[in-house]
Amino acid sequence: MNVALIGSGKMGRMIRGMAADYDMTVTAVFDIDDPLRDDDETKRRLDAVPVLIDFTVPDAALPNVRTAALLGKNLVVGTTGWHDSLPAVGEIVRSAGIGVVYAANFSLGVNLFYKIADYAGALFAACSRYEPYLLESHHKAKKDAPSGTALALASILGSAMNRSDIPVTSLRAGYIPGMHEIGFDSRSDTVRLVHSARSREGFADGSLLAARWINGRTGLYRFADVLDDVLSGT
Ligand SMILES: NC(=O)c1ccc[n+]([C@@H]2O[C@H](COP(=O)([O-])OP(=O)(O)OC[C@H]3O[C@@H](n4cnc5c(N)ncnc54)[C@H](OP(=O)(O)O)[C@@H]3O)[C@@H](O)[C@H]2O)c1
Repeated sequence: MNVALIGSGKMGRMIRGMAADYDMTVTAVFDIDDPLRDDDETKRRLDAVPVLIDFTVPDAALPNVRTAALLGKNLVVGTTGWHDSLPAVGEIVRSAGIGVVYAANFSLGVNLFYKIADYAGALFAACSRYEPYLLESHHKAKKDAPSGTALALASILGSAMNRSDIPVTSLRAGYIPGMHEIGFDSRSDTVRLVHSARSREGFADGSLLAARWINGRTGLYRFADVLDDVLSGT
């Protein structure tokens, strides 16, 4: 299967290096100097490419979805910071009849961790003596705090435990690739669940898995939909 990358930064380079592991070939790369366009030259370059993978910047994500729709290409969007535009993206995807998968976090481990958080939250909610909390640590260059993943975990735990007062603490220091801890604390003990990323490889893995999954599909999907299929063996 051929894929094209939009963005050749840290994630784009990682995906390019790992595509062969998924029997995929990166046949085109678009970047800031050679952006995705709806023109004849781009159509020619994408002739045998069914799916594009976008890891760029928040401002480029929506224009790239629009251009992919004009080109009739399916898309995996890993870029973060544009999710306020989801209703507009849904409309573009529907009217163009393309397929798009998006996620703030394409790591399989983190997405499984979301499911564990949901289950654990429901268990601990039944024992009112436990207080939930969230801790997250990332490298000093990360701009947002709390991380999108911590916000997702807070929302999952909040729904599972029916509470909106879960404390979230962020640390930005050094070169930590990413750590998220869910804790349940009582007078007598603490239960801690931790996800620690080792590298960006997990994000690239998930986005390549999503690229294969969205090939031939139409509609707007979250990575959780891909994971559900993986877990059910379909
Ligand atoms: N969903 C996930 O699992 C996940 C995981 C990691 C990262 N991310 C997100 O993915 C995005 C990229 O991350 P990254 O670490 O790869 O960042 P990065 O190293 O800064 O790479 C972004 C690249 O996109 C290029 N770019 C900017 N505008 C473009 C456009 N219109 N067309 C094509 N390329 C364009 C940039 O070029 P210049 O540098 O020349 O401007 C840069 O090379 C960020 O939003 C990040 O938060 C998501």
